[in-house]
Amino acid sequence: MFAEIVKPLQSRSNEVLAALLPQPEEHQSDLVAAMRYAVLSPGKRIRPVLTYLTGQALGLPLTALDNAAASVELIHAYSLIHDDLPAMDDDDLRRGRPTCHKKFDEATAILAGDALQALAFEVLVEGPSERITPGVMIKMVKILANSSGAFGMAGGQAVDLAAAGKKMTETQMERMHLLKTGALIKASVMLGYQLANLNDQELCDALENYAHCIGLAFQVQDDILDVEGDTEIIGKPQGSDHVSDKATYPKLLGLEQAKRTANNLISNAVASLEILKGNGEPLRILAKYIINRER
Ligand code: IPE
Ligand code: IPE
Ligand code: MG
Ligand code: MG
Ligand code: MG
Repeated sequence: MFAEIVKPLQSRSNEVLAALLPQPEEHQSDLVAAMRYAVLSPGKRIRPVLTYLTGQALGLPLTALDNAAASVELIHAYSLIHDDLPAMDDDDLRRGRPTCHKKFDEATAILAGDALQALAFEVLVEGPSERITPGVMIKMVKILANSSGAFGMAGGQAVDLAAAGKKMTETQMERMHLLKTGALIKASVMLGYQLANLNDQELCDALENYAHCIGLAFQVQDDILDVEGDTEIIGKPQGSDHVSDKATYPKLLGLEQAKRTANNLISNAVASLEILKGNGEPLRILAKYIINRER
């Protein structure tokens, strides 16, 4: 069931990204090659899939969702390039391949991240204009900007770096995870909601709660996989958090309690899909996958 729903959307996202990125013949330096290398490597495409599934649940065709879905994945890919740099997590393996700065060099990796961030906004505003009013587009640009910036992913990454080797309370850790990972996941869902242009506060709140819960659970599971995953399967160095003495859920609560926390979050997320009736089923399946995944 999961494969039936998600595989075609992952393939679609790969094709859209390959078309929207600068083309290989546009190389004037390694920059374009590094951008394509980082984005088109075998990621799970969870964020674009979420945008597609949310939009579909609200009756939108996939063509209306392509650019918004791609924009979040471009920000995500940039965040991974920078996350792996020696000044940050200093990791050599990503998606089963050498990290961008290992394949190219540090300066090229930094610039590839910068360029992907700019491209994300270009791609978002170039989405199909016939169904998007300027007001909705401004809301979408704000969603992507907020979720990427000082009060979103970048802010959370700063907290993550400052927290290494320190003790955190569960509240502080929850906040960090919601920023560094939850914010972009929430944006993926809320862009799908905005594109439907519904102005339904109850539905908006329900989807926000769904996204909030799966976003936090996603990073808790990522922390769990750093402990008990297999480098071959997760495609990144298992134990990296331990080496860098990162603040993680398993370290704070122990593995079992971290798993219970993730489970409870997914139950909470699924409960808020009730408002979508049968149309919420694919989002329910995706939520379950977030804690059952092995990579
Ligand atoms: C990894 O994200 C980084 C986090 C925010 C936890 P993913 O697990 O979605 O990585 P890819 O895109 O599938 O490689
Ligand atoms: C992900 O946190 C943060 C990002 C916003 C990229 P991690 O540092 O745990 O992600 P992985 O484990 O390297 O993918
Ligand atoms: Mg990190
Ligand atoms: Mg990392
Ligand atoms: Mg991790």
